Amino acid sequence: MERIAEEVQGSGLSEIFETFDKLRANEYPNLDKYGHVYLDYTGGNLYSRWQVQQHMEFLEKEVYGNPHSTNPTSLRSTEFVEKARREVLEHFNAGDDYYCVFTANATQALKIVGESYPFDHKSHFLLLFDNHNSVNGIREYARRKGATFEYCPVYLEDLRIDEEQLHRKLVAAKHKQNKLFAYPAQSNVSGVKHDLKWIGIAHENGWDVLLDTAAFVPSNILDLQTVKPEYACVSFYKIFGYPTGIGALLIRKNAFEKLDKPWFAGGTVSYASVTMPEFFLTDNQERFEEGTVNYLSIPAVRYGLEWINKIGMENIQKKLSVLTGYLLQELQRLNHRNGKPLVHIFGPATNDRRGSTVIMNLFDHEGNKIDVGMIEQKANEKRISVRTGCFCNPGIDEINNCITSEELSLFYSSKGYTHYDRIHFLGKMRGAIRISLGLMTNHSDCEKYLEFCKGFLS
Ligand SMILES: Cc1ncc(COP(=O)(O)O)c(C=O)c1O
Repeated sequence: MERIAEEVQGSGLSEIFETFDKLRANEYPNLDKYGHVYLDYTGGNLYSRWQVQQHMEFLEKEVYGNPHSTNPTSLRSTEFVEKARREVLEHFNAGDDYYCVFTANATQALKIVGESYPFDHKSHFLLLFDNHNSVNGIREYARRKGATFEYCPVYLEDLRIDEEQLHRKLVAAKHKQNKLFAYPAQSNVSGVKHDLKWIGIAHENGWDVLLDTAAFVPSNILDLQTVKPEYACVSFYKIFGYPTGIGALLIRKNAFEKLDKPWFAGGTVSYASVTMPEFFLTDNQERFEEGTVNYLSIPAVRYGLEWINKIGMENIQKKLSVLTGYLLQELQRLNHRNGKPLVHIFGPATNDRRGSTVIMNLFDHEGNKIDVGMIEQKANEKRISVRTGCFCNPGIDEINNCITSEELSLFYSSKGYTHYDRIHFLGKMRGAIRISLGLMTNHSDCEKYLEFCKGFLS
């Protein structure tokens, strides 16, 4: 632990750990009160008492009405929604170059891009194998509108981008118009941080970029003055736990008109008629905020941002880097008595260019994969929150398990639809165990997970 700690740049690590310990005791007391080992931060972050108290005070202070009107209660709500919007843009250093569209979550933000991007038979959609299904699903919009799409692989060894192939694909689509490249800044499965340099390279080759930052922004600074994707999505509960049900689509202003919204709805038009079927869409972010925004919860986004900024992203990163490095090292030291390893980590097995999400499989002393469902059940009994399965990211699972397109084609033409049908059909045990460390993870959580894994040694 100390050795890894020394490797992390800067000083004052023990102070950082002490501060986090105090915060955990005072602000997140339920973790230890109920004996939870929470290792699912990529699933959702945890919220502090302070955030909730601030929000309750806010709610108790005033009367808030449905925004977008001129009555006093409505104006009050609008004021706080707009404040939150400004602070989101400031948090991501968006300057005046971006709109912030409030959505229900990252998925809704991605859906807006999917249904509004001007895909047609001349356009092309490029994705990484490593994408959340909420990004993968955009290909269906592309496909229905006659656009072509293709995937760029990641390497089996470290689950990083095959740079040569990506470069080739970005350069090759010269003849296409309206080209969209989508990738995650950080994998929600392997924790790999995919290089943000690809945004600039894609731009040089005439692409628009959709950056999925959902798994990246909880422990990294996204600076939109430095990297300038046309579109970026976030879910706020992943950054600071509360409130759920709010995300954002950040749209670079010069790519705003490119999105061709296929319909209108309440809140999105400056005028619409019935006698004559015409409408004018609003010319700012409201164009994509359909119906009534979550005006009571959006103001709480400010408290979340304030909280995270008080703690400091650098401190979060330093702490997580130490703990992740320690876990990676210790997990790989676990061997059965006959010398066979217990754990296989997929993706980078060191701290290099990765976040604090780690996936793995456990193997018995004969080298057989231990069923992940059974492992999860045992973890549940010990109040250890991990995740198993393929984490809405089938590409990574298919790579890790070497599933071929021939096998998948046979499967999709068969009648089996459930997870177990699929395992049975392919004759391959799929899925992995994912642990994701975050804001309140401490050394004891890591030790408890290691102890849990040791329970499978023989
Ligand atoms: C990388 C990534 N993208 C998108 C999503 C979808 O986020 P949400 O479920 O909040 O819409 C997730 C959720 O885990 C994610 O990790």
